[in-house]
Amino acid sequence: MGKRASGSRVNWQKGIEILSNDSPPDFKIGICGLGTVGGGTLNLLRENADEIGMRLGRKITVSHVATRTPKPELTAGVATTSSDPFAVVADPEVQLVVETMGGYEPAFEVIRQSLANGKHVVTANKALIAERGNELFAVAQASNVCLAYESSVAGGIPIIKALREGLAANRINWLAGIINGTGNFILTEMTQKSRQFNDVLKQAQELGYAEADPTFDVEGIDAAHKLTIMASIAFGIPLQFDKTYTEGISQITPEDIDYADELGYRIKHLGIARLSEKGVEMRVHPTLLSKSRLLARVNGVGNAILVHGNAVGSTLYSGPGAGAGPTASSVVADIIDIARQAESGVKRPICPGLGYLQTHEGLEVLPISEIETEYYLRIPAVDKVGVMAKISNVLTAKDISIDAVIQKEPTSESVPIVILTHDVVERKLNEAIAALEELDEVTGKIMRIRVEPFHGVQN
Ligand code: HSE
Repeated sequence: MGKRASGSRVNWQKGIEILSNDSPPDFKIGICGLGTVGGGTLNLLRENADEIGMRLGRKITVSHVATRTPKPELTAGVATTSSDPFAVVADPEVQLVVETMGGYEPAFEVIRQSLANGKHVVTANKALIAERGNELFAVAQASNVCLAYESSVAGGIPIIKALREGLAANRINWLAGIINGTGNFILTEMTQKSRQFNDVLKQAQELGYAEADPTFDVEGIDAAHKLTIMASIAFGIPLQFDKTYTEGISQITPEDIDYADELGYRIKHLGIARLSEKGVEMRVHPTLLSKSRLLARVNGVGNAILVHGNAVGSTLYSGPGAGAGPTASSVVADIIDIARQAESGVKRPICPGLGYLQTHEGLEVLPISEIETEYYLRIPAVDKVGVMAKISNVLTAKDISIDAVIQKEPTSESVPIVILTHDVVERKLNEAIAALEELDEVTGKIMRIRVEPFHGVQN
């Protein structure tokens, strides 16, 4: 039982008596994997057992846990502990399996077999949902069970619920968010404390934020998984991870952070999904955001997602994006949701995976070359009269108009020229970059970072 602050005015004891006298039998679950998320889930279920029982009207009992490394303190009171996750899948007592092992296999098979055996599944595994969710949701639907995945996107923020339920009346036009806590933590520390990339990454790993393979965080793959899932719910399209444009933060330098700052911007790693007349945009990449935007002020391991619906306008959801407590909060919310349905005896549970009963098969995902936005360019050039004129001629020839320019002090090799452009189709910008890099006066590769102006959005 969790300890309560003294002076609480809530009559928990009465509630607990009602629960024990007049409620359905305990809802029995199994947990596969006791790492940061699985361990956090077990702890949270124990710590908040009374509140959860009161909200649900019945108790949740963890009756079987599978873990590679025995953790007797954590599993005290659990009826069965084994080292094989398939023992949980086969346990007839278990009504719902929590998959918190991560990775592709055996996690996929654990989920698939659980669903096929008529057990509900709650998972935090965004890689599996984004890459193989279409297969898994089909199994869930055929077996009339739920596959829930709130914790797979944005840690403790209930964004799946918001998209699927709270905003269900809207046509969602676009969403954009900071959806990788590790990446945001690294960029924040680099910006605010001038810390080195690798040093901050190590700390994120120690804090349990980073993926087992941290390249998933720093190369944008983790964010692309999450964006794929959100776009699928928002627009009612199949999961298409392979079509999500993915670029990470590993190429961002302290100079770019400083130049962006001088121009009034922060560099954030954003996931953007948008419906346009040309098709669907799905892209994750570093992005310059005006410092005045709320999103630009989301720091550390924080995540935040702006969602624009045609009826509601723009709405913002923010909170901790990683870590044991926040992620467990979402896992347990899913368990409670499913237990409510199981209790009400619903034969065909209302959890059709991605929030639509049918998907829009016809909506095409646009290649990145077809998106249109503003850009930051850092051009290394020789320190000679006439260089700026040559650069500007190349841009003008491609119909690219310049919004702002700063020319920095020469370094030993070259002088960086930093340019902000107005909106342009990326294909044209790529042609301009290729032409600029051909100039004798340009001494190296041009750094390009997309800028998100959020035209017409207040916050
Ligand atoms: N590695 C992920 C992140 C964990 O940093 O956001 C939460 O999904």
